[in-house]
Amino acid sequence: MNVRAAAAGDRDALARVIASDDTFRPDEVAVALELVDLALAGSTDYELRLAVDADGAVRGYVCYGPTPMTRHTYDLYWIVVDAAARGLGVASRLVAAMEDELRARGAGHVRVETSETDGYGAARALYARLGYPEASRLDDFYAPGDALITYYKRL
Ligand SMILES: CC(C)(COP(=O)(O)OP(=O)(O)OC[C@H]1O[C@@H](n2cnc3c(N)ncnc32)[C@H](O)[C@@H]1OP(=O)(O)O)[C@@H](O)C(=O)NCCC(=O)NCCS
Repeated sequence: MNVRAAAAGDRDALARVIASDDTFRPDEVAVALELVDLALAGSTDYELRLAVDADGAVRGYVCYGPTPMTRHTYDLYWIVVDAAARGLGVASRLVAAMEDELRARGAGHVRVETSETDGYGAARALYARLGYPEASRLDDFYAPGDALITYYKRL
């Protein structure tokens, strides 16, 4: 498994990775694809790193970018691994590659936001495993019973 930057021709493969997940609602899929499109169009606000098999198949991606109005904080906006490739360390590789890249630029922190619903349990476990401390929890933020959880890691 290699991690590489994205190119315009990756759009369909990224859309397939997103579609492999049954957690995302249609509006979430639309936002994920919007960020992919902005990054592929060359926006400096959103960057992509792709996990690619030995045969070239895209197995997952992470989308991140500089947090507006901060000097050196970044947001991890989205991370998705193809449903058929989970539990193999793909997301861990992607986050490590992102962190290496950000450290090389002198970044200070990474912020990640997620939901407390069951569908995001794997994501919460991933962030905990990779040393992202929970920094805040806003109860009932997304909906009654669905908190916004923020993780905040010093690089
Ligand atoms: C969250 C997600 C990216 C994890 O990808 P992955 O490649 O399977 O994760 P990894 O194999 O690197 O797992 C790393 C660690 O995360 C934790 N983890 C990952 N999936 C887990 C699960 N289903 N249950 C419990 N812990 C899990 C484990 O601690 C694991 O370490 P271990 O294998 O040593 O126990 C993947 O499940 C996914 O795409 N989910 C849907 C999209 C999503 O929720 N994205 C985040 C919000 S945008």
